[in-house]
Amino acid sequence: MMRTPRLLILFAFPIFALALFSLSRNRADGVQLSQRNFAFAQKQLTLALERLGDSQNNPRSTNNDGTLQLVPSKDWTSGFFPGCLWLIYEYTGEEKWKIAAQKFTRNLEQEKLNGTTHDMGFKMFCSFGNGYRLTGDREYREILLESAKMLITRFNPKVGCIRSWDHHQHLWQYPVIIDNMMNLELLFWAAKESGDLTFYNVARQHAETTMKNQFRPDYSTWHVLNYDTATGQVLDRHTHQGYAHESTWARGQAWALYGFIMVYRETREQRFLNQAVHIANFILNHKNFPEDMVPYWDFDVPNIYNELRDASAAAILCSALYELSTHLDREGVNYKSAADKILANLSSEKYLAKPGKNANFLLMHAVGNKPANTEIDMPIIYADYYFLEANLRKLKIEKMADGMK
Ligand code: GLY
Repeated sequence: MMRTPRLLILFAFPIFALALFSLSRNRADGVQLSQRNFAFAQKQLTLALERLGDSQNNPRSTNNDGTLQLVPSKDWTSGFFPGCLWLIYEYTGEEKWKIAAQKFTRNLEQEKLNGTTHDMGFKMFCSFGNGYRLTGDREYREILLESAKMLITRFNPKVGCIRSWDHHQHLWQYPVIIDNMMNLELLFWAAKESGDLTFYNVARQHAETTMKNQFRPDYSTWHVLNYDTATGQVLDRHTHQGYAHESTWARGQAWALYGFIMVYRETREQRFLNQAVHIANFILNHKNFPEDMVPYWDFDVPNIYNELRDASAAAILCSALYELSTHLDREGVNYKSAADKILANLSSEKYLAKPGKNANFLLMHAVGNKPANTEIDMPIIYADYYFLEANLRKLKIEKMADGMK
């Protein structure tokens, strides 16, 4: 039998022990960072709640003069504020956050019957969906099922996708945007909850059609696809919020990543996980992906180093990468460390607001729609939602890793 040379053991043991020590110290630092972020979120949202009183409208962003911008339930972002409150309730377990979340969730109930939008999932799953997951409230379950039924009325079997927008009908016959992947989570949930596989089949078909048509060979995305409803063929591949039709809009790419990871979680079909890995690699290996991993608003905008970052794209990406890391074996480590880096940078003073500032939003420097010149370098509520979700995911991952020791 070969014997391990004594000298090797002598050197290898301290190196191994040091590596273990530094790993557990990094983990402890990361946990503290997320705990600090939740403490800060509680301060900011307490102030926001005081300011909102009994508002029927929910916060979205700020106006150009820095004042708070509120939106009615029909706005696609209306579910994120109650969603943030639910995530804080999940973290703290404190009744006061549940009561606040219930109140701002209630503002959205009528949206279950709004069939004019694909944003049903964004609105209802972040609000009622988190609420049902955390409280088991049967009324929320019914509202969610009605919402899911309404969403699938927008599915066209010839195209194989849910229609995104009804506006700009002079431009697009049947527009499907990459963001729409996010709305599928509501349908997967509805299938499990009701046993009706129609929801599952619609969601899976939408993902499959999107995977076939909405990606370039390098796994970058087109924002808007315009389909012919008679043939199901793609008529145009456009952008609406990115720099150009052939550029890659950063938040769209982040939606794609998050969406395909979620579709893999729900279907367990390897091809969806492969797609997610390719999308992640496109982002992480891109020459214009900056050192601090908070993307510029579009990957291909000229003079990119003078352009704005989009903290919302970073927050979505960060949360998605944490989940991706849990579905992979050894390569998962790289995606987790990318997520850790994004989280640390978003938590720095460059992106995280000071208490009482930023109209009580958490993150600064998001870009809503650059071509339309709206929400440029602003706080935006969905950045905060995915930032909180990323922090929760991080804490869960670290807790599991601790439990395995
Ligand atoms: N769904 C719209 C956006 O991401 O801006």
